[in-house]
Amino acid sequence: MDLRLIFLGPPGVGKGTQAKRLAADKGIPHISTGDILRTEVEAHSELGNRAKQYMDDGKLVPDDLVVDMVAKRLVQPDCNRGYLLDGFPRNTAQAAALEGKLAQSANQTDKVLYFSAPDEILIKRLSGRRVCPACGANYHLETMPPKTPGVCDKCGTELIQRPDDSPQTIKNRLEVYKAQTHQLTQQYASAELLVNVDSTGTVDEIADAVARCLEL
Ligand code: AP5
Repeated sequence: MDLRLIFLGPPGVGKGTQAKRLAADKGIPHISTGDILRTEVEAHSELGNRAKQYMDDGKLVPDDLVVDMVAKRLVQPDCNRGYLLDGFPRNTAQAAALEGKLAQSANQTDKVLYFSAPDEILIKRLSGRRVCPACGANYHLETMPPKTPGVCDKCGTELIQRPDDSPQTIKNRLEVYKAQTHQLTQQYASAELLVNVDSTGTVDEIADAVARCLEL
């Protein structure tokens, strides 16, 4: 089954955790703009060097850079049978660019899943998050701790805290989400694409809700 999905929601709500799981299950690419940008920053590429300060400050990376990056990714052959966009679009200009691209290729978005939880939960999830810099595995100090503290279960690498998970940058990211991204929920609701996913529960409970709303 072809599946073209957008995962929308505030920082720390668990989009990435659910996206990895669903994309692996359905065999479609998980396209996380945050992950692609972090890889570029790590590689000190021109794109990464231009994006780094925005990311460290919790601001959106300029649209032209991100739209170009996503457009290149969506024409890769593995996207022919669907994809899961995680963290894109993030403002009305990016949504319009995506719509233009989709209109050209006649690939319509099937659904936009809107993950939501109160700020207190988001802040707890973000401040306790630890990630593996080598394989990208994601942990949480309380809810998903690694077997050995500070060490990745999958590859044994020392876990790190994302630089943008500091208290001030978390605050900035939440403000940016409210000012620029949240309004997309109205746009996609009007287009009858939006499905609400209460994201206050456990990872398994949310995965069940995702499966139910996609009728999988
Ligand atoms: P990005 O990487 O997209 O960050 P984000 O949207 O802020 O989302 P996060 O990755 O922080 O959270 P998530 O919802 O995926 O939660 P996760 O599953 O990890 O973007 C980073 C930066 O890149 C942006 O600030 C911007 O600068 C730039 N950028 C990216 N896209 C851009 C774009 N389109 N345009 C412009 N700039 C862009 O979970 C969080 C934690 O909670 C984890 O520890 C996890 O283990 C835990 N957890 C998950 N689910 C649960 C649960 N149900 N219960 C308990 N714990 C849970």
